[in-house]
Amino acid sequence: MTVVPMRAEHIEAIAALEQACFSTPWSAASLAEELNNPLAVFRVAVDADGRVLGYMGFHHIGDEGYVTNVAVFPAARRRGVAAALLAETARYGEANRLYRVTLEVRVSNAAAIALYEGAGYVRDGVRPRFYRDPVEDAAIYSRYFQ
Ligand SMILES: CC(C)(COP(=O)(O)OP(=O)(O)OC[C@H]1O[C@@H](n2cnc3c(N)ncnc32)[C@H](O)[C@@H]1OP(=O)(O)O)[C@@H](O)C(=O)NCCC(=O)NCCS
Repeated sequence: MTVVPMRAEHIEAIAALEQACFSTPWSAASLAEELNNPLAVFRVAVDADGRVLGYMGFHHIGDEGYVTNVAVFPAARRRGVAAALLAETARYGEANRLYRVTLEVRVSNAAAIALYEGAGYVRDGVRPRFYRDPVEDAAIYSRYFQ
């Protein structure tokens, strides 16, 4: 597995991944817009044949990163793909002297919460009823660099 910047050739697979994972998935068009967004830091984990295993994206605004997406195809889970994507984000944060990278996660999403806590993210608070389809609170997690 390698982690590479998101490119146009990855968009179709990532849109399918979004459909498989989320009740309000990002469309291919939304993902493609990020290719031209100077704030976007989107990374893709690919196998030896270049097939997409998972991806992660955040927006670099000021001295913060705000994560918008993290997802791994079901067949590729529990093999360290998401951990590798988060490690790449941490490297970016260190190199670019970010204060923190922050994100929201459904409070019921035990797998993602375990992933973030294992990667050094700490719980900052809760946004009540942040999500829809179904309505649910979001836990706010951040990885601090300084
Ligand atoms: C959450 C998700 C991204 C994890 O991806 P992954 O590649 O399987 O995660 P990794 O293999 O890198 O796991 C790293 C660690 O996270 C934790 N973890 C991951 N999946 C877990 C699960 N199902 N149950 C408990 N802990 C889990 C474990 O601590 C794991 O380390 P370990 O395997 O050594 O025990 C994946 O399950 C997914 O895409 N889910 C659907 C989309 C989603 O919920 N995204 C997050 C939105 S905020």
